[in-house]
Amino acid sequence: MSVFNIARNSQGQDFGITAKMANRHGLIAGATGTGKTVTLRKLAEAFSDNGVPVFLVDVKGDLSGMTVKGTMQGKIAERVTQFELGGESYLSGYPVSFWDVFGETGIPLRTTISEMGPMLLSRLLNLNPTQEGLLNILFRVADDKGLLLIDLKDLRAMLKYLADNAKQFQLEYGNISAASVGAIQRALLTLENEGADKLFGEPALNLEDWLQTTDGRGVINILNSEKLINSPRMYSAFLLWLMAELFEQLPEVGDPEKPKFVMFFDEAHLLFDGAPSVLVEKVEQVVRLIRSKGVGIYFVTQNPLDLPETVLGQLGNRVQHALRAFTPRDQKAVKTAAETFRANKGVDVVEAITTLGVGEALVSFLDEKGMPTPVEIAMIYPPKSQLSPITAEQRQIWVKDDALFSYYNNFVDNQSAFEMLAEQANLEAVAQQQAAQAQQEEENGVLGSLSRMIFGTKKRGEQLSVTEQVVSSVAKSVGRNIRNQVTKQIMRGILGALKR
Ligand SMILES: Nc1ncnc2c1ncn2[C@@H]1O[C@H](COP(=O)(O)OP(=O)(O)OP(=O)(O)O)[C@@H](O)[C@H]1O
Ligand SMILES: [Mg+2]
Repeated sequence: MSVFNIARNSQGQDFGITAKMANRHGLIAGATGTGKTVTLRKLAEAFSDNGVPVFLVDVKGDLSGMTVKGTMQGKIAERVTQFELGGESYLSGYPVSFWDVFGETGIPLRTTISEMGPMLLSRLLNLNPTQEGLLNILFRVADDKGLLLIDLKDLRAMLKYLADNAKQFQLEYGNISAASVGAIQRALLTLENEGADKLFGEPALNLEDWLQTTDGRGVINILNSEKLINSPRMYSAFLLWLMAELFEQLPEVGDPEKPKFVMFFDEAHLLFDGAPSVLVEKVEQVVRLIRSKGVGIYFVTQNPLDLPETVLGQLGNRVQHALRAFTPRDQKAVKTAAETFRANKGVDVVEAITTLGVGEALVSFLDEKGMPTPVEIAMIYPPKSQLSPITAEQRQIWVKDDALFSYYNNFVDNQSAFEMLAEQANLEAVAQQQAAQAQQEEENGVLGSLSRMIFGTKKRGEQLSVTEQVVSSVAKSVGRNIRNQVTKQIMRGILGALKR
């Protein structure tokens, strides 16, 4: 049985996550400054050491030091020595890829509108159910018409297209109200002002790029979220998309000997703040099912009560740092935390939880049978990598050296709804012009004048002779032919554009 040790209990025993049970998810909780992020880092290091690639969000910018080997100083040195971890040789830097949705401090990380889908997009845009209904119609029309939704300008173009053809689409798809279109357009503007245009585009993330190992160690993918977190809706929609995407794309693996991939979500309460119940249900479902794809999800939050009960109930591996018991809500959190642990005779959880030191925690992991081990008071190992962040310059150099950088940094604006609709509008304008011209030619055309020459000009309503009728129908059919040709051209233009 393989265990990834990360802590030592008061009897001097080492313990940690059972590799086979790492996909049963986890929770790291505790008041501010109690050691949550260091525990997250320690777990990530342990996974990487054992060849498991990792994704984590860095909300405060304090994880960039993972690229560099730590130093035997301060608290780190103290614990390395105390736990006899091997001194200097314990320390190590890690294979890291930095990502940033704004493309400033990491490899640009993007998705597309269609991958995000109407539900998360509605959350991102803060839409009400009626507006969300319209967004659903928009996605269906785009699908039916083969219009690709990649970036925000595609979304804008589609909205305009829907509004311009509201009558036509209404019959087939349902109500398209001008008010909803307007509301979504305004929401889009707000989102663009927050920089969300960078979030959508190509090349979009290929998840395979996250499932990498280097020299047997899992690559640690760090999403710099210092800026992203300022827009909690963007943060939440994006991370939930990631989770859903992994779930959709990875194959079933059953119960692997160790996880294929592990994700850590810091400030996890933001994922659920104000989320509608349908969305919470979806997340709960994804968390439950993603296990069989070999993915472990670890939520990090101050107060476990911030997570929906249905999600909390699925987090098998738990590290509870100190909680304060000042407010009634704090006290409730202490009580809940205590109740969720499997009791251990020697440990008074309620007493311990408020008196734990920094880097100390109440810990219970799942054993190889999937049973939670009795709760223990434990000291978390010190990290192997440098605690303090690297400088912005060092980071830039690291990012540019990343093999993935040049691929993702090379933004491409592929043919999608925006371009297709623009082309279609263009073609329609040309067609109208040509049709009008053809009509004109038909009326003033050679055949017209020929017929006039032969038969003279007839007044409206006057009966035409058989010969006159034949000649005039020839003239008309010439006009029609020109029109048909133009129509064919439009069709080819539109279809051609769609197939490209
Ligand atoms: N396992 C550990 N070994 C050594 N030092 C630790 C350990 N855990 C925490 N520390 C020390 O405590 C400090 C605070 O820890 P950390 O940043 O993880 O707190 P936090 O719970 O994430 O706080 P916040 O909620 O403010 O983000 C660290 O910078 C480090 O100096
Ligand atoms: Mg922290």
